[in-house]
Amino acid sequence: MIGKNLITFGEVDSTNNYIKLNADKLSHGTIVTAVRQKHGRGRGKRSWESEDGNLYFSFILKNRIRYEDIFSVLINTSVSVVQVLQRLGIHSKIKYPNDILFDFKKICGILIETCGNNKIESIVVGVGINVNQVDFAALNQKATSIKQINNSSYNVDEIIQTFIEIYNINELTATEDMFTLYKEFSYVIGKQIRYNNVAYLISDIDKNGDLVLLNEGDVTRISLNEISLEELYNETNN
Ligand code: BTN
Repeated sequence: MIGKNLITFGEVDSTNNYIKLNADKLSHGTIVTAVRQKHGRGRGKRSWESEDGNLYFSFILKNRIRYEDIFSVLINTSVSVVQVLQRLGIHSKIKYPNDILFDFKKICGILIETCGNNKIESIVVGVGINVNQVDFAALNQKATSIKQINNSSYNVDEIIQTFIEIYNINELTATEDMFTLYKEFSYVIGKQIRYNNVAYLISDIDKNGDLVLLNEGDVTRISLNEISLEELYNETNN
């Protein structure tokens, strides 16, 4: 269960950083939110612009700390975000592994990290949802927000409460059912990609989180760690 403890900051460098630095002291399921982040981080060492009005939060998991748990945490988190948005009338899709898109534009990003040296001691899940931002400057063609879609402003505290409620229900839902939902919400299954200069059809995502690729009857699997997905998508998006 997450959200029993909720720590709120006006400003922090990054909610993921805060949890990683204080992991020993924070209990399982603690959520840290911030009105704004000075150095919000995205995947692949990119930054995550974090102006006021959006939702920035991270939570720590101390019960699911095997490497294999990471994919199911990713599934629970991304499906929960899609369901939160559904409640607001927004039907979004999950771009593998864990970007949430609406109308081909990103509305939410998720950054999952681990703490611990030789073994995983905790998992930190960071979520950034574009709520009330309407101008994304250079990223206007690539990003959107709840306000842009629904044409009205939203209270970020209410959205995080909805997330907590849905995530906690999903945690009690069978892994198999969550996986089915993850695939149902997937944006990538059925799409063409180029990988190592070969054109493939993404036919499936398997239970380990690997993408299953097809090329003239040959099946290739690629794992989250084998490739830079950003490159993969850049190639296909351009
Ligand atoms: C991505 O799409 O690259 C992931 C973006 C994750 C952003 C969130 S905002 C809250 C948490 N704190 C961070 O520094 N990053 C995550």
